[in-house]
Amino acid sequence: MIITTLKNSEKLAKKISKEMKIPYMETESITFPDGDIYLKYKKDLTEKKLIIVESMQPNSNETLMRIIFAAKTAKDLGAKKVILIAPYLAFMRQDKRFNPGECVSAPIMAELLNNSIDQLITIDPHLHRIPKLSDIFTIKAKNYTANHVIADYIKKKFKNEIIVGPDWESYQWADDIAQEVGVKKTVLEKDRHSFRSVDVKIKDKIDMKGKNVIIVDDIISTGNTMIKAAQKARKLGAKTVTAIGVHGLFVENGLKKMHKHFDKILTVNTIEHETNIIDISPELVSAIKKELRI
Ligand code: R5P
Repeated sequence: MIITTLKNSEKLAKKISKEMKIPYMETESITFPDGDIYLKYKKDLTEKKLIIVESMQPNSNETLMRIIFAAKTAKDLGAKKVILIAPYLAFMRQDKRFNPGECVSAPIMAELLNNSIDQLITIDPHLHRIPKLSDIFTIKAKNYTANHVIADYIKKKFKNEIIVGPDWESYQWADDIAQEVGVKKTVLEKDRHSFRSVDVKIKDKIDMKGKNVIIVDDIISTGNTMIKAAQKARKLGAKTVTAIGVHGLFVENGLKKMHKHFDKILTVNTIEHETNIIDISPELVSAIKKELRI
């Protein structure tokens, strides 16, 4: 067995390799001057099981292509099995044709991976209108959650807190985390007007006065959802407002925009970022042990 990364997840790949005592291999993963992908493995892969740890952000489009090239090349070089650990699985939000003529990205991404890798382990993919990974993956694909590591962190670092999910889709995180921490939660109702414009309403009233409000969501992309939820919490008297995202993409200056609305902005290290405070590697190590039976 051998572990590598392509571009996005060097820290996590090295952590997992060290923890599991599986050798880490550097892979040359660059581009030709014209932008085409260039990839070179530096060890013999004959009969090896190759674990590629690669988050699909930043640069989701290029990363998907890079993963496909890497997996196909490994097989071509004699690898027995290619296992992708994608701490963040991109393309999952476009899980239906919201408007006529749109591309439904999630099953297309899955089909491309079905044709190139043998197994997938991922963290909190955006499963919503597609309820299970097996609805789109034919290979062995398993999702694990960051809920436990987030709940552990909250238990250690917060007092007098409540959990807020900014939209109905975040229920699966807000509810589990609130239960595990043993505090109250509420889930807001979100109207999405466009890629960049949202509004939130409070449906189930909860007392936020003087509370340390923790807003949890799977993805922070532009940050607009989090900002609207924070404004609502402040209006309702929150003492402090913290954002916790499983996957911090922070596109289009998202982090900068969020700063003035939050006391703290924290993410799990599924995507390498300066806000990474909560470590997912213990969860990934046990997932790999379980799924690969080692
Ligand atoms: C969508 O349903 C997700 O759970 C997030 O709420 C969404 O991706 C956040 O996007 P943004 O940060 O651009 O508002």
